[in-house]
Amino acid sequence: MNSNGTDRSWPGVIRRYAKYLPVTESTRVVTLMEGNTPLIPVPGFVKAIGGNFDLRLKYEAMNPTCSFKDRGMTMAITTAVARGAKTVVCASTGNTSASAAAYSARAGLRCVVLLPEGKIAHGKLSQALLYGATTVSVRGNFDDALRIVRELGETGLVEVVNSINPVRIEGQKTAAFEICDTLGDAPDFHFLPVGNAGNITAYWRGFREYQAEGIIRRLPRMMGWQAAGADPIVQGHPIQHPETVATAIQIGNPASWGGAVEAARDSGGLIGSVSDEEILFAYKLLARTEGIMVEPACAAPLAGLIRCVRAGEIPEGSVISATMTGHGLKDPDTAIRVSGFQPLVVAATREAVLAVMGV
Ligand code: F0G
Repeated sequence: MNSNGTDRSWPGVIRRYAKYLPVTESTRVVTLMEGNTPLIPVPGFVKAIGGNFDLRLKYEAMNPTCSFKDRGMTMAITTAVARGAKTVVCASTGNTSASAAAYSARAGLRCVVLLPEGKIAHGKLSQALLYGATTVSVRGNFDDALRIVRELGETGLVEVVNSINPVRIEGQKTAAFEICDTLGDAPDFHFLPVGNAGNITAYWRGFREYQAEGIIRRLPRMMGWQAAGADPIVQGHPIQHPETVATAIQIGNPASWGGAVEAARDSGGLIGSVSDEEILFAYKLLARTEGIMVEPACAAPLAGLIRCVRAGEIPEGSVISATMTGHGLKDPDTAIRVSGFQPLVVAATREAVLAVMGV
């Protein structure tokens, strides 16, 4: 540890949690030193929403490609290399493709990403392109792209690195370990966004494994949140044309549907949905009260928490963690549109600047 309390020798999630992952001593690990992300207390946000509890945000934006996907991708690419794969492929709403492209570049693998045309936030698209992935825009939605990826996987020509590849979930469960390692036990509630439902499945597995090891004494209630225009689990049936401002979770037929339902049911939690208006309200409120910029999908669980507070469902003094899955800079267009501000253009003089400063 250095004087800031951060561990400069952090080896990435595979080496840190090797005991819990399908690797051996001789595995050639492909890592960008992902993980070890901060768990940030946000008392100003809690006060603003009228709560009286300890909320900590697991800020996954601090991963190498600025989303939680890197935890699963270090496992997926490490495994692809071990199997002798030459080409990996994924469907994505943007973050999986950014991560797959980065770890493939690191490993020297060819990477092909299938993206729903026109539905990818620009930061994410810029990543896939710059890391050098073959970037294919499919005239359809994420669910169409994932169907094609499944079919490509059956040819045996490529390694699929979506979360239908079980090692992705294994890697992602390390975020639950880190939360427990920081708190000294599990939280009372864990809030997170739900899209393809791999992450909620992974967290629940991580919490249960730590409980089985005796490292934590309790389990959190798992509170998963979809966007109202893309809430198949809440509706109980697939959605043909999912629509939401939170493009990361614009998914109509989640691959890990069963895992999400199980996590919510077995933990005494729930899968809920919130409107785009609620999402954008929480998105802006977090930025303005705490100086934390997340992408819109991350605001879904925050909007869900606001609902729970209003309904009196959060006991005073609860310890709550919430995953902020991706960085706000992933989607600068939404940030600029929603901010409500524009730069004030003035003459290049002190007087002109003073005149607009409002002090
Ligand atoms: N938040 C962000 C920022 C995401 O990118 C995703 C999923 C989720 C939440 C939902 O996680 O799918 O495990 O339930 N993004 C995938 C992608 C679908 O292609 O990047 P999930």
